[in-house]
Amino acid sequence: MVDDRSDNAEPAFTPVARAGDIPAGEGRTFEVAGRLVAVFFDGRDYHVLDDLCPHMGASLGSGPFVDGVVTCPWHAWRFRACDGAWCDNDKLRVAVFPVRVVDGAIEVAVPVSG
Ligand code: FES
Repeated sequence: MVDDRSDNAEPAFTPVARAGDIPAGEGRTFEVAGRLVAVFFDGRDYHVLDDLCPHMGASLGSGPFVDGVVTCPWHAWRFRACDGAWCDNDKLRVAVFPVRVVDGAIEVAVPVSG
C-alpha cells in the first residue's frame, strides 16, 4: 500500500467500533496504525489514550473509567482521559489521540510510527 501523505499531513482517522459498542464507564482496546489504543466512553464523549500503562505495561483499556479518569487494572495508577496525565504527578503522561464519530462509527487518528 502506498502512503501518499506528506510529512505534515494529519494522521488519517480509522474506524474502530460502532457508537454504542462501548458502554459508559468502560473502555476497549484496539490496534490502530500498529499501536494499541484504549477507547473510553463517558456517556457523552469518547476519549482515546495509549493502551500501555507506563508503570508495568498493563492494558489501560480494561480499567474502570469514572469521572474522566481511567484506573489501571494492575496497580491502580490513575490517568486523566483529557490529557493522559497521571493523577499523582502530571509530568508523567500517556499519549492521547483525536477521536470522532462519523455516521455511527468511532474513528481514531493515530500517527504512524517509524
Ligand atoms: S501496570 Fe499500571 S499501575 Fe502498574
